[in-house]
Amino acid sequence: MSSTIFNNPDIVAKGWYFVCASQLLSIGSVKSFALCGQRIAIFRGDDGQVRALDAYCPHMGTDLGIGSVDGNQVRCFFHHWAFDGEGQCQDIPCQDHIPLGAQVQPYATQEKYGFIWIYPDKVAPTTVAEFDELKGQELVVVVDKPLTRQCHHHICMINGIDVQHLQTVHHLPVDLELSLQQQGEQIDFTLSGELLNTNWRERLARAILGPRYAYSMRYAHGCLGLLTMMQEVRWLPKLYMLYAYRPVGNTTVIQPIYVTQKRAGLLGAVMAHLLLWLTRLSYYALRGEDGKIYDNIRFSTERLLPVDAPIVHYVKYVNGLVPSRWSRSLPKPLPRERGTLSASSESFETESLSVVSPASLAEGIGG
Ligand code: FES
Ligand SMILES: [Fe+2]
Repeated sequence: MSSTIFNNPDIVAKGWYFVCASQLLSIGSVKSFALCGQRIAIFRGDDGQVRALDAYCPHMGTDLGIGSVDGNQVRCFFHHWAFDGEGQCQDIPCQDHIPLGAQVQPYATQEKYGFIWIYPDKVAPTTVAEFDELKGQELVVVVDKPLTRQCHHHICMINGIDVQHLQTVHHLPVDLELSLQQQGEQIDFTLSGELLNTNWRERLARAILGPRYAYSMRYAHGCLGLLTMMQEVRWLPKLYMLYAYRPVGNTTVIQPIYVTQKRAGLLGAVMAHLLLWLTRLSYYALRGEDGKIYDNIRFSTERLLPVDAPIVHYVKYVNGLVPSRWSRSLPKPLPRERGTLSASSESFETESLSVVSPASLAEGIGG
């Protein structure tokens, strides 16, 4: 399987990339950021709206991030040209005439999960991805510290669907079946199976959780992962977290975000924070072990096994994404598929693998 968009640092797929926490950009402030090989200036106007532009001023190239906000426009620090949210220059203090080309590329933005997100086009065809069960609900969000991995974000994202490593790296006995659904630029992997019943810990887990366990990973645009844990269990509510990915140079910045629905009253608030804490605990338990892999990997898809079917599907999905204007080159056309690993995309099930331990399944999934 040769790489086209997947694991290709010269191509940035269209999608929502996180910029910074919303609270970092107060009304009347402007900042610029390096992301996806670009320099992007974002500013919040008097109306509270966030706007994003290519950062370099078309006059002499000053970074608009060091400028200032004037109403709902950003004014360049150097000679005070002012740009609106469409990227059009609206004012040049030393003359009345606005020359052709006095404009910069604007980008769609959205605020969600406590973050500002940017899409590499003026208009985005979709909003930032959501969990089905949380749609339309008020959320409680906890933002964790970002971390950096020394590989492409497409590689980090494999961790969430690599079933084998739950056994080999995290020593978790796993018996999971995969089902998969793709809709446009979003793909859902659900891994589910029986809880084992061979020792007292497993029996205790079955008594609490019931006989089955499942987790699902929704990938959106190959740059955002939405993990739902504790599915198909009896007593515990589902736990939700997001992994937002952003390429910076040859590394990936990963932003973990924990979310749950808001609950009424003091007890509800305590419950929400308890669940968020549990989510974080699950993620932290095994993150370090995964780091050893992703900081040193030279990824290859040449020798994948049938058990790696989720990864084959994931790679195909990524290669079907749309390159953005931020790409440094266009992808090569896909070669003809060959061999048994070129499974078709819609929906399928792999064979069962091995065993599951309950607490563990919440873990070992993060990038
Ligand atoms: S460089 Fe921006 S106004 Fe001159
Ligand atoms: Fe892991």
